[in-house]
Amino acid sequence: MGGGLIRSLGGWAEVKKMLLARPWLEDRRRFDIPESLSCCLVDRFPDDVLSAHSNTYKNILADSVLSREERSTWQNMKGSNSWRNQWLRGRIAAKEAVRRSVQDEHDLALFPADIEIMPDRHGRPMACGMWTSQIASTPSVSIAHTGDVAVAVAGRLVHGGGVGIDIERIERVIPENVVQYAFCEQERILIPATPDGLRQEWILRFWCAKEAAGKIIGSGIIGQTGNIRIEERRIQSGKVTVSVAEKLARKFKDLKKKTIRVATFQSDGLVVGISC
Ligand SMILES: CC(C)(COP(=O)(O)OP(=O)(O)OC[C@H]1O[C@@H](n2cnc3c(N)ncnc32)[C@H](O)[C@@H]1OP(=O)(O)O)[C@@H](O)C(=O)NCCC(=O)NCCS
Repeated sequence: MGGGLIRSLGGWAEVKKMLLARPWLEDRRRFDIPESLSCCLVDRFPDDVLSAHSNTYKNILADSVLSREERSTWQNMKGSNSWRNQWLRGRIAAKEAVRRSVQDEHDLALFPADIEIMPDRHGRPMACGMWTSQIASTPSVSIAHTGDVAVAVAGRLVHGGGVGIDIERIERVIPENVVQYAFCEQERILIPATPDGLRQEWILRFWCAKEAAGKIIGSGIIGQTGNIRIEERRIQSGKVTVSVAEKLARKFKDLKKKTIRVATFQSDGLVVGISC
């Protein structure tokens, strides 16, 4: 063999720029969230697409975006097909949000598989990988999914705290008995009583606000309902203020403040809560 060139594959620099998730909430001012946050939404890969042709697309997608360790988690993951799909969509959204944040802030181009999204011991996602040693501070990241949609927010904030996001479909109706369980009396008083559509929307905003706060704390809200409490809401701006009980704040020492502000709004048929 003369060692001649058999085939040349080009365009890898372009591949680095391709986005599997779409940039989302680009008009930060309108949603009253910091400019430094990068938000992404994945709605291109519904369950029927991922499961088509005996999961062929899904397997290609997973092999393209996941790191070696994530692939091992993915391959050993128990749970229903739709749960696995949600997890994969969430990973794609988070990787793209982190990728955009690192590109914008540090001018560093990464492939999705470079960015490992690993849970801490409470389940909070953390952005990891060799690239973190090349930059001064790693962006915080948060993930939420509902049905066939996943979203993620990533970025580094001036005060150095984390981020949290939650979404619910606007048409979701939370049954009254669940409202009674999820919110204490003081919180329920703050839910507008009428008209019915506004009341339903604010129940979802409160729900997302508490979940987004639980994610920024790193606790989630399972078993903690009373520890994360809605204190104030502004109907016009959608701003919600949430307080964190002393014992929960003590347990999660990274938490910088005991009052968390959550921006709540509607976008793309979703009610959204973002805390930062
Ligand atoms: C885990 C929890 C944080 C959110 O769960 P959820 O609503 O079922 O799911 P979401 O799609 O909103 O969020 C899931 C993501 O939250 C993230 N997450 C999980 N635990 C977390 C923690 N301790 N801190 C921060 N983020 C966390 C993960 O990234 C997860 O996605 P992944 O598994 O694909 O990585 C938790 O709050 C929960 O289970 N809540 C139950 C729902 C409830 O009772 N809500 C009452 C509202 S008042």
